[in-house]
Amino acid sequence: MSVLERYREFLGVTAATPHITLGEGGTPLVAAPRLGARIGADLYLKFEGQNPTGSFKDRGMVVAVAKAIEQGSRAVICASTGNTSASAAAYAAATGLRAAVVVPAGRIALGKLAQAVMYGARIAAIDGNFDAALRIVRKLAEGGAYTLVNSVNPWRIEGQKTAAFELVDTLGDAPDILAIPVGNAGNITAYAKGFREYRALGRASRAPTLLGFQAAGAAPLVHGSPVAEPETVASAIRIGNPASWQGAEAAVAEFGGGFHAVSDEEILTAQRLLAREAGVFAEPASAASVAGLLRLGAEGRLPRGATIVAVLTGSGLKDPDTALRGAEQAVLKVPADLEAVREAISA
Ligand code: F0G
Repeated sequence: MSVLERYREFLGVTAATPHITLGEGGTPLVAAPRLGARIGADLYLKFEGQNPTGSFKDRGMVVAVAKAIEQGSRAVICASTGNTSASAAAYAAATGLRAAVVVPAGRIALGKLAQAVMYGARIAAIDGNFDAALRIVRKLAEGGAYTLVNSVNPWRIEGQKTAAFELVDTLGDAPDILAIPVGNAGNITAYAKGFREYRALGRASRAPTLLGFQAAGAAPLVHGSPVAEPETVASAIRIGNPASWQGAEAAVAEFGGGFHAVSDEEILTAQRLLAREAGVFAEPASAASVAGLLRLGAEGRLPRGATIVAVLTGSGLKDPDTALRGAEQAVLKVPADLEAVREAISA
């Protein structure tokens, strides 16, 4: 069932809201016992890479685009490190809206750029980072010709909170801990809203401790001040001044937890472990959640036996360049000869 159908009473859907869907939501919650053993936890991975455009953005985008159509909009606009632009472009294409996306030139993963191109968005690549792009699209949207579909659009948060609902509906209650990568901070804000609403209704008895992980070179919430020149291999979370800063801080203050920075090396190690020990290929930004858990686990800072959900926000297929960088030795070139192949693949 689609996000708009399954959770319609929570999403401000009216008789005038079009029922659009590309099949978003209902993503798998994958048990990861091998990785969990490393941190002494009952670990699950919420794999949002299984959404139609390969990231969690689709949950919020379907609601934002439906509401834009309901309100008579003909065009959507967003700034993006890649995934929001792919999602906006797809839902606009499916519903006949125009999509304009503004991205940092040369700094979004190849698969995401290919998506925006194929879905037919108008793409402006700027000589500046995500924060600069967001400033520009906010101004452009003020004119009224475009609906802004970044997560400053409250309908995005409404849609994204359904991932928290799904966790509770699947596990029977909220987990002890939610580990989540943080960039513009919309998603942690959305999960908090979802847990809060389910707790208020008695569908969850509690809310999880929130652990938000940022890349060390782009960790404004950890430092408590914006970062002018954010830098990280995890291009999706290369953000120096998150728009939902206050929402994220309020969520952590309310439920407990905190923000931590993980290095690019820790992120890439976690990405590889996720693939090799859980069979899940997530993009680098997503792996920040597991990188953080591995670190805190190694430091003995995670309660033993806790139920932990790590949110894996996007598919690893989006960023093949990063996956293959430095992996030349993984592919052995051999003659088309039985013995040569036998030799090459022997352990
Ligand atoms: N993980 C992935 C794969 C993302 O694409 C993003 C954000 C995040 C985590 C962080 O989520 O911003 O809600 O804290 N991507 C945005 C984009 C900025 O433009 O696609 P957040």
